[in-house]
Amino acid sequence: MTLAVRDLRVSRGGREVLHDVTLDVPPGQITALLGANGAGKSTLVLTVAGLLPVTAGSITAGDDRLTGLRPERVRRLGVAAVPEGHRVLRSLTVADNLRVAGPDATPALEAFPELRDLSDRLAGALSGGQQQMLALAQAMVGGPRYLLVDELSFGLAPAVVGRLVPALVALAERGAGVLLIEQYTRLALELAERVHVLDRGHITMHGTPDEVRGRLHSAYLGEGNGG
Ligand SMILES: Nc1ncnc2c1ncn2[C@@H]1O[C@H](COP(=O)(O)OP(=O)(O)OP(=O)(O)O)[C@@H](O)[C@H]1O
Ligand SMILES: [Mg+2]
Repeated sequence: MTLAVRDLRVSRGGREVLHDVTLDVPPGQITALLGANGAGKSTLVLTVAGLLPVTAGSITAGDDRLTGLRPERVRRLGVAAVPEGHRVLRSLTVADNLRVAGPDATPALEAFPELRDLSDRLAGALSGGQQQMLALAQAMVGGPRYLLVDELSFGLAPAVVGRLVPALVALAERGAGVLLIEQYTRLALELAERVHVLDRGHITMHGTPDEVRGRLHSAYLGEGNGG
């Protein structure tokens, strides 16, 4: 049961920003999506999550057609997204952030047991790493079949990222399909079984991490950046 994006076209502000994007997020593994600023990575996540309209193409999860569904329906079909920038409800407590996300917080608290000790804290008072942990935990409420994480490592120290990564690995090991969107190339290439590169709205490369590593020449995707 693969999450399949086929020939997807999406426009923003009257301009097409995703052009015939095709990629698979297979179950039981981490897939990486890499690309420079403005490539369209977040647009892809928002579109799969049902937050942006599709001009053409399709999004399916197994037999479920997600194209054009509202965000709540997409989520109920088991596709969860962590948007860019540690977005949590800052004026609510950790416990209430999880409650808002759905009735069954067990998978989230199993992934991040330290959130139990923080449950009465206001989300806005958490560190950046704790907020990203909470954002991930919210997405894990209910045990999603697919998880899309937009820039897991953004603004976080490597040690903090290192605390978050095992939860994604464990989720994939339990059978979920994970799409990891990163500019932090080394991390994505280490974790993913398949890698896709998005360049100005086009998928320009895809393959195993070794294949893609060998073909990456651009400075922004080089080993010197963020590694
Ligand atoms: N709200 C918006 N209205 C109009 N155009 C937008 C909007 N948000 C993004 N865009 C445009 O869509 C294109 C893709 O942007 P997107 O945010 O998806 O890229 P990204 O790969 O996530 O970049 P980043 O690495 O900076 O997060 C860019 O050309 C951007 O200028
Ligand atoms: Mg983005």
